[in-house]
Amino acid sequence: MELQRIFDTHAHYDDPAFDEDRDVLLSEQLPQGGVTRVVNCAVDLVSSARNLELAHQYDILYCALGYHPEQAADERKGDLDVIAGFLQSEDKAVAVGEIGLDYYWEENAPRETQMDLFARQLALANDLGLPVIIHDREAHGDTMDLLRKYRPQGVLHCFSGSVEMMKEAVQLGLYIGLGGVVTFKNARKAVEVAAEVPPDRLLLETDAPYMAPVPFRGKRNDSRYISYVAERIAEIRGMDPQELVDRTAENGCRLFSL
Ligand code: NI
Repeated sequence: MELQRIFDTHAHYDDPAFDEDRDVLLSEQLPQGGVTRVVNCAVDLVSSARNLELAHQYDILYCALGYHPEQAADERKGDLDVIAGFLQSEDKAVAVGEIGLDYYWEENAPRETQMDLFARQLALANDLGLPVIIHDREAHGDTMDLLRKYRPQGVLHCFSGSVEMMKEAVQLGLYIGLGGVVTFKNARKAVEVAAEVPPDRLLLETDAPYMAPVPFRGKRNDSRYISYVAERIAEIRGMDPQELVDRTAENGCRLFSL
């Protein structure tokens, strides 16, 4: 079945994995494949500028601008001011992201550095009245502490927590982003969460070029493959896949004010 009106709330089309066919993908293949909106997420200052440029160039693209925790060590004084300027003056910049904490990779900046950067970007988003796109890998405790403190609007992308954590996040007003992981054979927690997220708080995402769903696991991901995610979640929730795509797209439009 061909799904329509797909809203991919998290991708990285500035990634070199798309260098060879980015233009044909964003101008033709994705729109023809039923994709109508994508939030393209930056990871640092250079990719913020680049993703803004891509959002101007392609109708389906919006962008989130900010510093990813894996890039925390690269932040220079004044970078967030430049990003804030972009966010204030550009209509297609719809969120601060992707921001958060990543305690998985040992080579990442120290936890205090990551938490300080995350906190400053949460404060920035609140100042600008924008939602945040949150990356939380192996850092649930500190992530939730900061979310309780700053109470931003936003989404926990590629949600990897328990049903209990999901419920607290929803209570804080946050959305839950689910992608390719729900199609993996060993996906237990993500499947439980997919079954229980309130229908008005679920978002679909790819994290392209990463996290391709089964049957493309390990290959380059793109927003069209959200169909596989939607079909799996629809199966888990006992609903029609197109209805799920439409409902979650509505949620995305509400969160990002589109
Ligand atoms: Ni990402």
